[in-house]
Amino acid sequence: MFLTTVFKGLYLSNMHRYIAIFASGTGSNAKKIVEHFKHNQDITVSLIVSNKADAPVLDMARENDIPTLVIDRTYFYQTENILFFFNKFSIDFVVLAGFLWLVPRYLVQAFENRMVNIHPALLPKYGGKGMYGMRVHEAVKKAGETETGITIHFVNDHYDDGDIVFQAKCSVSPSDQPEDIAQKIHRLEHRHFPEVIEKLLQKV
Ligand code: GRF
Repeated sequence: MFLTTVFKGLYLSNMHRYIAIFASGTGSNAKKIVEHFKHNQDITVSLIVSNKADAPVLDMARENDIPTLVIDRTYFYQTENILFFFNKFSIDFVVLAGFLWLVPRYLVQAFENRMVNIHPALLPKYGGKGMYGMRVHEAVKKAGETETGITIHFVNDHYDDGDIVFQAKCSVSPSDQPEDIAQKIHRLEHRHFPEVIEKLLQKV
């Protein structure tokens, strides 16, 4: 009996996957991911990390009883303490969902092919340092693009540069304003991001 329980426990802990989400803003993607995995027996969002103490995403985390960690630049770039934190929460996979800081090399290496970012355009277009939020959609509009989309990619130590895992497109009409494009993009992100994460976790 005892052995069975121990064995079962080991088996379960081997199978179970734990996600950390980094987000600094509203966290609408983080929320969708949390909702998607809420009743999943094998996957748990177990930590939400933010560099902003007043980010709304932290309220969402608390409402869902998910532990949070607020980091500053010194902690993130001058120490590797976050790895101890990740170890404590058994983190297997990291999701960047609206996190603007460049990820330091020690973290990229620790989570090689186990860390993804979502970008609100079809990379390699409209990516790189300074290309985030409405800036992306304004650039898409200014260029007169007839389509844009989302990119989910593995994270390396350059902005928006890792291997692309998934892209989805939407049309842009001449009357669309950057705000309209932002809405279309959010809808695409919410529809696809949790499912892509779930698929990737099957390979981790
Ligand atoms: C998303 O559009 C994502 O592509 C980008 O940051 C935004 C975050 O939005 N990386 P939200 O906070 O999840 O609503």
